[in-house]
Amino acid sequence: MNNVILIGFMGSGKSSVGKLLADKLQCKFIDMDDEIEIGEKKSINEIFDEYGEDHFREIETSYLEKLLTKKNKVIATGGGVILKEENISILQRIGTVIFLHTKYEALLKNLEGDTNRPLLQKDNAEQVIKNLLNKREPIYFNAASMIIQTGEKTIEEITNEIIGLL
Ligand code: S3P
Repeated sequence: MNNVILIGFMGSGKSSVGKLLADKLQCKFIDMDDEIEIGEKKSINEIFDEYGEDHFREIETSYLEKLLTKKNKVIATGGGVILKEENISILQRIGTVIFLHTKYEALLKNLEGDTNRPLLQKDNAEQVIKNLLNKREPIYFNAASMIIQTGEKTIEEITNEIIGLL
């Protein structure tokens, strides 16, 4: 099986869908943020705090490169992975890129009270989400070869929809 790569904004369900999808496809699940935290022995928050976003992005690319040799995996990426063109071409080489498209209002709901995402630890988090989403949404659409509207669907429904398309 070609690797399956999930991209999308923070809170779009990449990790939850990825885990269930891997389960159903009987293959291994890789969560890029988890890989980075384990490999660097630091939380994403700590990496951002200690070294800043630019350094995190460099680390992110180096972990992405490690995936070039993988096969038969479901991979959930961090929401900002598409910010570098270099990353997008790696993702497209690795496997089938699927965009989980979630609308702003649903993202707000999913991300409410979040403390794990450094970019959102601000008083104006709603505005930050809006700005990031405006900037990133066209990039997700362009990078993906499949698009899933997550809407009101359950994790199970989204997962089954992906399986139907693969
Ligand atoms: C980020 C998304 C996060 C994580 C980091 C940066 C982003 O991953 O990589 O906090 O820039 O959107 P999730 O999309 O899994 O939350």
